[in-house]
Amino acid sequence: MLVLGIETSCDETAIAIIKLENDGKIQIIAEEVSSQIDLHKAYGGVVPELASREHLKNLPLLYSKILTDSKLELREIDGIAVTRGPGLKGCLLMGYSFAKGLSISADKPFIGVNHIEGHILAPLLDNPDLKFPFLSLVVSGGHTEILEVNQIGDYKLIARTIDDAAGEAFDKSAHLLGFEYPGGPKLAELADSFLNYKQSTKYNFVLPKVMREAEGFSFSGLKTAISQLINKHKNEIDLNPMLKAELAYTIQHSIVDSLVFKLKNALQNSKIKTISITGGVSANKYLRAEASKLGVNCYFPNMNHCIDNAAMIALVGAYRLSAKQADLYTNGVISRWPVESLQKTAA
Ligand code: KG4
Ligand code: ZN
Repeated sequence: MLVLGIETSCDETAIAIIKLENDGKIQIIAEEVSSQIDLHKAYGGVVPELASREHLKNLPLLYSKILTDSKLELREIDGIAVTRGPGLKGCLLMGYSFAKGLSISADKPFIGVNHIEGHILAPLLDNPDLKFPFLSLVVSGGHTEILEVNQIGDYKLIARTIDDAAGEAFDKSAHLLGFEYPGGPKLAELADSFLNYKQSTKYNFVLPKVMREAEGFSFSGLKTAISQLINKHKNEIDLNPMLKAELAYTIQHSIVDSLVFKLKNALQNSKIKTISITGGVSANKYLRAEASKLGVNCYFPNMNHCIDNAAMIALVGAYRLSAKQADLYTNGVISRWPVESLQKTAA
């Protein structure tokens, strides 16, 4: 079955076509993504109204490119899947209306998809040997949670952030260090470069280990400690590259440490011994390295499927369509939508 997926929940416009074979094999036929980073950089974060307009402009362009690249016509597609939530309402509406138009014009099934379910299942796009059940750590700019993934649609929440997401902690710290939005990847790159300096470090900064006893995640205490640490050295940062790299290293270490600590707890309390890490922050090399030391099979999406993409949305759409659940979530867009409230695909 061929499914076209559309993603516009935040600042990436993405369209993809995937093929789901009867034996479960997944093939990505074509995928396109247009990032709006340059547009929002000047404002230090995503401006929802600008993002919506950009989606409106990009959708028809990406749509005609994807059909050209795949050499397919709309009538050959079996279903249209689109992110319905969670996300920015105006942004979601752009993709949702575009997808609805395609579905009506070609008389194809329309499937509303939960963005987090997309992230949870994204590692399946690139890892054919990943099997249910597994524990999933979803770490992105807006979400940080660990779930037990028993099968498609059957997600049990184990831990969720009560305030900021891990990606936000990376981005806000990066902003304090002087990086443009979204600074997470740049902070990570600088942190990794610190290993080159490590022998000569003189600071050995220590950040508090937060939320060790609590069930969920929290990054607000850490954020305050990071901002105090950076402020203390504010005047030296731009003059001393080693100091800046060491601060980045310390920040990355403490964010990753809190993620891996909770993952380790989740593993200890569960019979499931396979983990998957997904969402934008799963692109982080240090997180990948530390999680791989946990002694269990650990899966990640390919780099282009860590961040927001449409192949993961098309994949969820294909699963829902094959389970005859295309009509489940077609009642408009929704900005908050907990993934554990979804229905399973099988009884
Ligand atoms: O999944 P995503 O594209 O969007 C959301 O759904 O939020 O995640 C974007 C987030 C941003 O906060 C970005 O800074 C972070 O992922 N990110 C990283 C890295 N690459 C992306 N954070 C740390 N290290 C990275 N290498
Ligand atoms: Zn996302």
